[in-house]
Amino acid sequence: MVKARGARGSGRQRLALRAQTLRAFVVLAPVLFAPACRRAAGSPPPFTEPVTLGGRAIAPAALEHGREVYTHYCRPCHGDAGDGKGTSAAGLQTPPRDLRLGVYKFAAVPAGQLPRDSDFVRTIRHGLHGTAMLAWDVPEAELDDLIQYVKFFAPRWRNESAGEAIIATPDPWGAREPEAVERGKRVYHGLAQCAVACHPAYATKAEIYAFSKELTGMEVREFRADLYFAVAKDSDYGVKILPPDFTFNELRGGDTPEDIYRAIAAGIGGTAMPTWKNVLPDPDLWAMAHYVRSLVAMRDRPEAGALEQRLRDQPAWQPPPPPDAGADGATDGGLHP
Ligand code: HEC
Repeated sequence: MVKARGARGSGRQRLALRAQTLRAFVVLAPVLFAPACRRAAGSPPPFTEPVTLGGRAIAPAALEHGREVYTHYCRPCHGDAGDGKGTSAAGLQTPPRDLRLGVYKFAAVPAGQLPRDSDFVRTIRHGLHGTAMLAWDVPEAELDDLIQYVKFFAPRWRNESAGEAIIATPDPWGAREPEAVERGKRVYHGLAQCAVACHPAYATKAEIYAFSKELTGMEVREFRADLYFAVAKDSDYGVKILPPDFTFNELRGGDTPEDIYRAIAAGIGGTAMPTWKNVLPDPDLWAMAHYVRSLVAMRDRPEAGALEQRLRDQPAWQPPPPPDAGADGATDGGLHP
């Protein structure tokens, strides 16, 4: 600044200054224009005509606007190319989603089907708890273009549409919360058998045996050794996914009874968690939502430790003798033929 003012003095100085400015420009140009070049490299080419996404023709201007909004809010993690490799992605324990996959976890549609726009809105507005996907304050007017642009990354949207919405029936339990929790505990362990191979159990072996016999007529005579821990399962995301321990982990899709109902009814896309809607009656899905909610409420409280202690201290359990076993069949089947 000082130099420039002084330079006004003589013509030669002015010339020198211009040369200097030009040199500076030549040196700086790659730096100044680098972000644009890099964006162009990873980002989709300019949109010149409408693109059909999920059965709806999206105008090029809307997609260009979506690109701007995305670049502002989402690019640091999800990357210019939507591949989940943005500059802030490194080191995140839950990696940002590769949006090119077209597989989504949290949506009120049968697991594996494409989410509805309302699902994208919920994910963007509320975030995915316990991950770097925070609640982003994208202005209402920008949301639709952003969502359509996010879809553009995944080729699936060119020839598929969003799944049928799973609409929550009204919660039938109302004020009967304790009854709902008790029923949910039975359904979780005995009917849906959530703990057989995936989720942790939260009941004693004697309880699980009794619940299962009561609700399915089947006797559970053996339990996996790590019954009180989650089991990592394969997923479509290229990593194994550990189902949440409700007394310990945050629920990414939210932890109101409605959020939990949605996760149970719809399932979690791309993971081992299936769709339960129409597999079990709705009052049982709601009962499980209330039960899981009661476990979530124990998080960071003495109740979680007390439950753990109760399960640890449960008496050694032997299955009752099979109905057709003789008097000496009192112990675990195979050992005494
Ligand atoms: C600070 C990093 C970060 C930013 C910024 C970010 N996300 Fe995410 N996003 C994540 C992570 C991490 C996940 C994966 C969560 C998981 O798999 O449970 C994710 C997942 C998603 C998903 C998948 C949801 C599902 O149901 O599976 C969508 C869609 C998404 N983000 C969209 C966006 C949009 C749109 C923006 C910008 C408004 C954005 N994200 C900004 C980190 C980020």
